[in-house]
Amino acid sequence: MPQIFGIRALYLAAAAACVIATPSAAFAQSAAAGGIVVYNAQHESLAREWAEGFTKETGIEVTLRNGGDTTLGNQIIQEGKASPADVFLTENSPAMVLVEKAGMFAPLNADTLALVPEQFRPASGLWTGIAARSTVFAYDTRKLTEDQLPKSLLDLADPAWKGRWAASPSGADFQAIVGALLALKGEETTMAWLKAMKENSTAYKGNSTAMKAVNAGQTEGAVIYHYYWFGDQARTGENSNNVKLHYFRHQDPGAFVSISGGGVLASSTHPEQAQAFVKWIAGKGGQEVLKNGTSYEYAVGLKAQSNPKLVPLDDLQAPKLDPSKLNAREVTDMMTAAGLL
Ligand SMILES: [Fe+2]
Repeated sequence: MPQIFGIRALYLAAAAACVIATPSAAFAQSAAAGGIVVYNAQHESLAREWAEGFTKETGIEVTLRNGGDTTLGNQIIQEGKASPADVFLTENSPAMVLVEKAGMFAPLNADTLALVPEQFRPASGLWTGIAARSTVFAYDTRKLTEDQLPKSLLDLADPAWKGRWAASPSGADFQAIVGALLALKGEETTMAWLKAMKENSTAYKGNSTAMKAVNAGQTEGAVIYHYYWFGDQARTGENSNNVKLHYFRHQDPGAFVSISGGGVLASSTHPEQAQAFVKWIAGKGGQEVLKNGTSYEYAVGLKAQSNPKLVPLDDLQAPKLDPSKLNAREVTDMMTAAGLL
């Protein structure tokens, strides 16, 4: 298929598909027949905003199939070339790496990669960062003062923290944090930390639930991502009014900034539309949804701005990490061995 289609041309081709019999007609017809299928592991509301914005601008329909990072990543691998997925969007990069390692992504177009600074995408060019989220320690302001906060994520392994903190270990968000810890500090330190976590922490299902427990005084703090707090504050604050966010900074593993990914499947039957969708998300339209919408995730596009309520990404002193180095399988194996999964 020639690569000459712009978004507008795609739209026009789709609209004219029934009357023009050119080599592009088959492609245009399939677009008109159902658009693209996106396996979406990002928060559904954010993905919906992206899909609606894209469809409005291009006329290309987007069908979202929602699920978790690991579930959908494994599903794509299992389905192989027969997968109906055209695009894969995740909350965190480990699931992107899973699919990348299985050789199932098509290279992204150069003009898409050019929209995102190198630090937010893998060198392979097989997928790109589309949003980012910061690890935080969400703590109960009635129980902890600033000087009592952990200086490092590693401090939470100390027996002094026994029974005082929480997380959602079954979630891909937390597992990405463990992936960062593993990449930064190695297997021995990570395993020791996970075993201590099993002793010290309470497991909740979901970051919102963990934050809610902090707010309700059930635990002193929780390791989650920043946007759960901002989202709740923007609504009623009922699950976060007693909670403040502590940013670990200093390139600590706890200052890990997780990259959400987007990629096009090599087996996509609508590659041009799929490429156009990922380009749209990485570009102005998609990044403005991050700035103006209710996701409170960071924008990562070149010159893109995040919501002004957030602590600027540049001030987070996140550790430098290649997003393609986070190993989902090793993390879940280690967490299972530590009794956390
Ligand atoms: Fe999340």
